Amino acid sequence: MQIYADNAATTKMSRTAIDAMLRCMEADYGNPSSLYTIGQQAKEILEQARADVAAVIHAEPREILFTSGGSEADNQAIRSAAVLGQKTGKKHIISTAFEHHAVLHTLKKLEQEGFAVTLLDVHSDGLVRPEEVEAAIREDTCLVTIMFANNEIGTIQPIREIGAICRKHGVLFHTDAVQAVGHVPIDVKADNIDLLSSSAHKFHGPKGTGFLYARKGIRLTNLIEGGAQERGKRAGTENVPGIVGMAAALKEAAANMEKNASHMTALRDRLIEGLSEIEHSALNGDAAKRLPGNVNFCFEGIEGESLLLLLDDRGISASSGSACTSGSLDPSHVLLAIGRVHDVAHGSLRLSIGEDATAEQIEYIIQNVKEVVEYLRGFSPVWRDLKSGKTPFIL
Ligand SMILES: Cc1ncc(COP(=O)(O)O)c(C=O)c1O
Repeated sequence: MQIYADNAATTKMSRTAIDAMLRCMEADYGNPSSLYTIGQQAKEILEQARADVAAVIHAEPREILFTSGGSEADNQAIRSAAVLGQKTGKKHIISTAFEHHAVLHTLKKLEQEGFAVTLLDVHSDGLVRPEEVEAAIREDTCLVTIMFANNEIGTIQPIREIGAICRKHGVLFHTDAVQAVGHVPIDVKADNIDLLSSSAHKFHGPKGTGFLYARKGIRLTNLIEGGAQERGKRAGTENVPGIVGMAAALKEAAANMEKNASHMTALRDRLIEGLSEIEHSALNGDAAKRLPGNVNFCFEGIEGESLLLLLDDRGISASSGSACTSGSLDPSHVLLAIGRVHDVAHGSLRLSIGEDATAEQIEYIIQNVKEVVEYLRGFSPVWRDLKSGKTPFIL
C-alpha cells in the first residue's frame, strides 16, 4: 500500500487546478500588462483569480497581492509592518518561538537592524495565550505576528482573540496562515487580521505561488523592485498559470471544506487513538484544537529519522521534526518550544493526511508504526536503559 501522509509539506495538485492551468497556458498566454486583446484576456483571468481568492477569506480583491509563495508573503508582511513602525519610532515586534523559519529568520534580520523582538512561549498544548500577547504589547510595538496553524503540530491558535487585542492597542496583526487557508474557515474581517500569508501548494495548488492579504490602507514595502505589477508592490510579470491554478484549487477547497474537515477529523482522531496505544508515546499539541489532518507524536527511545525510513519502506510517506543540518540532528524548534526535551523531540513523527485518506489506510499506518517502533526499540541502547530503569522515562 502507498500512502502519502505528508500533506503539511506539500499536497498533490488537484485535477481542477491542473486543468485550469493547462487551459491558461494554452489559451491565455498573454502578458497581463500588454494592451492588446490577448494581454487583456490574461489580465481578465488574473483579476478573476484575485476575486476568487479574496472571496474565500472575505477580503476585497484589491487587498490580495500575488507572491511566489508563503515565504515571500511572510517576508513582505513583516518587512512592511517594520517600515511603517520605524516611521513612528515603533521598533518592537511580538511573535512566538514556534513560527516557521520564514518568519523567524526575517525577525532575526530585523533584530540585527535594531528592532526588538519578543518571542512568546508556546504552552505544552501548542497554544499561545491571548492574555500573554496583550501583556507583551509595549508603547513601541508595531507588529504582532503569530501563525494561524502550526506546520508541525497543527495546533490552531486563538487568532480572532489575538486580533481583537491588537486592534484594541492599535498594533498591526499578521498571521502566517499557510497551513490553514483552504482547510479551516478564515474571515479576515471577523478575525481582526491585518496581514495574512498563504501558499497554494498546501491546498492542492501549484508550488511557487501564494498570496499576501493586506488590509486596505496598509502600505506595503516592496521586496522586488521593477515594473508596476501588483499595484506597484511586487514587480515582475505575474505567474498567471500558477495564480489561476491557485484560485481554482482554493475555490474547490473552500466548497468542500466542511465535508473534508469532518472526514479527516474522524480519521485523525482514530489515528491518534491507535498510536496512543504505543507505550511511552505522547501526542504533541492539543488533541482537538488542531488541523483536521495533523497528527504528531513523540515516541521515547527511538530516532525519528530511522522511523521515517522504515515507514517509507512500507509505503508510508511521513515526516519527522528533526532536520539534519551539517551532519548533526537538530530537534525541531517547534517541539522544543512546547517543552519537549531534546531526547524526546528526536523521536517525533508527523503524519498529515489528505482529503482522500481512507479508514483502511489509517489502520495500515497504525499497524506499521506500532511494528516499526517496536522493532527500533528492540536494538536501541536508549530504550534498554529506559527499560532497565537506568534512566527514567519522560513520557
Ligand atoms: C507555516 C508555514 N509558513 C510558511 C511556509 C513557506 O511557504 P512556501 O513554501 O510557499 O514558501 C510554510 C511551508 O512549509 C509553512 O508551513
